Amino acid sequence: MADYDRLREQAEDDGGDGLVFRSMRMEDIPSIIAIEHEAFTSPWTSDAFANELTHNHFARYMVMQLHGEIIGYGGMWIIMDEAHVTNIAVSGAFRGRKLGARLLSELQKLATFFGATRMTLEVRVSNEIAQSLYRKFGFEPSGIRPGYYSDNNEDALIMWAELGRGGAEGRAQSQ
Ligand SMILES: CC(C)(COP(=O)(O)OP(=O)(O)OC[C@H]1O[C@@H](n2cnc3c(N)ncnc32)[C@H](O)[C@@H]1OP(=O)(O)O)[C@@H](O)C(=O)NCCC(=O)NCCS
Repeated sequence: MADYDRLREQAEDDGGDGLVFRSMRMEDIPSIIAIEHEAFTSPWTSDAFANELTHNHFARYMVMQLHGEIIGYGGMWIIMDEAHVTNIAVSGAFRGRKLGARLLSELQKLATFFGATRMTLEVRVSNEIAQSLYRKFGFEPSGIRPGYYSDNNEDALIMWAELGRGGAEGRAQSQ
């Protein structure tokens, strides 16, 4: 992850918009948990994030900071050429400003950097906002996991995107 962070630091200098993307660290977890509780009805615990950062060698987690404040995060498991997104969230006060799109774009770049060619995720069938975001990034529905979400027994829509050269990001920008 260190190499990727170095690449990002160069990109941040070029961008100059106050946004920083970097790998998640243990000390970020309290800020992440605050957003997690706001974003999800069945939030992950601090221990779950800590376990991902310390014990899961497939896991890659990223935070998005605006002027030093963590305002979003996302993560995935990269196994061989497939990246499985586990979570993505933007702090409520910062939604609707294309920051979720920036974050997903960075996750796709990170996945490509680590050798993934395809990306998948599950999303609640009722979460039309997230589905709309994913479609802009080349995700297409591929099936349903019935009753996947235990809090309300809601089905999950399974979506997949190809991470071809310039593909997802190019499509997102052109829409
Ligand atoms: C999903 C989420 C990350 C999107 O982040 P965001 O910063 O608000 O999204 P953006 O401003 O980048 O918008 C990107 C696209 O998402 C969709 N979108 C965002 N807000 C929307 C809204 N209020 N209504 C409909 N679509 C919306 C649109 O397709 C939008 O593209 P457009 O602006 O070109 O129309 C954010 O809403 C969030 O954190 N939600 C709670 C957690 C969650 O549901 N995570 C996904 C779990 S699978």
